[in-house]
Amino acid sequence: MTVDLHNYVATVENFPEDGVSFRDLSPLMGNGVAYKQTIDAIADFAKDLNIDLIAGPESRGFIVGSPLAYALNIGFVPARKGGKLPRAAVSASYSLEYGGENVLEIHKDAIKPGQRVLIVDDLLATGGTINATRELIAELGGVVAGVAFIIELKDLQGREKIMQAGDVPFLSLMTY
Ligand code: PRP
Ligand code: ADE
Repeated sequence: MTVDLHNYVATVENFPEDGVSFRDLSPLMGNGVAYKQTIDAIADFAKDLNIDLIAGPESRGFIVGSPLAYALNIGFVPARKGGKLPRAAVSASYSLEYGGENVLEIHKDAIKPGQRVLIVDDLLATGGTINATRELIAELGGVVAGVAFIIELKDLQGREKIMQAGDVPFLSLMTY
């Protein structure tokens, strides 16, 4: 049985601030069939990319990346928000769709030079989060082998921003 994943997205207008249509994926993650279908679809995309690791940004990227890594029998690298990692880390800052700046960090020993990494997240908005994650992986000598999202917000042109930083295999399961 396959389900229409769109039925598991709750849209909340003007959250967290006026003018933003927030696409809440909690219903998808809370439904076993929809969640498994999502992870399986990304695993299918990953199978030809010859990847060694999955990376996902805190925090919703963990909800996509951890089950995917488990399904593919490979490791997961968390890109954590600033100041959370206990050991030596690389760090990159970026700006958010609804204003403000953030920092992401990855432990220096999490990725070895030449390892092929698939970056995943729940949603692509402006692309700032993914480009920062990409920068960190590159700084460690990793190869970004692909990027995958459950939702892509077309108007914000995140995909274009990602491709400006270099062409990479791309998957989004739903666009809004
Ligand atoms: C959200 C979302 C993506 C990011 C997309 O995370 O989960 O990671 O924003 O935005 P961008 O493409 O404009 O960078 P958020 O920073 O809100 O953190 P959270 O996962 O902890 O809620
Ligand atoms: N993260 C950044 N923009 C978002 C949006 N519009 N909906 C859900 N998560 C987001």
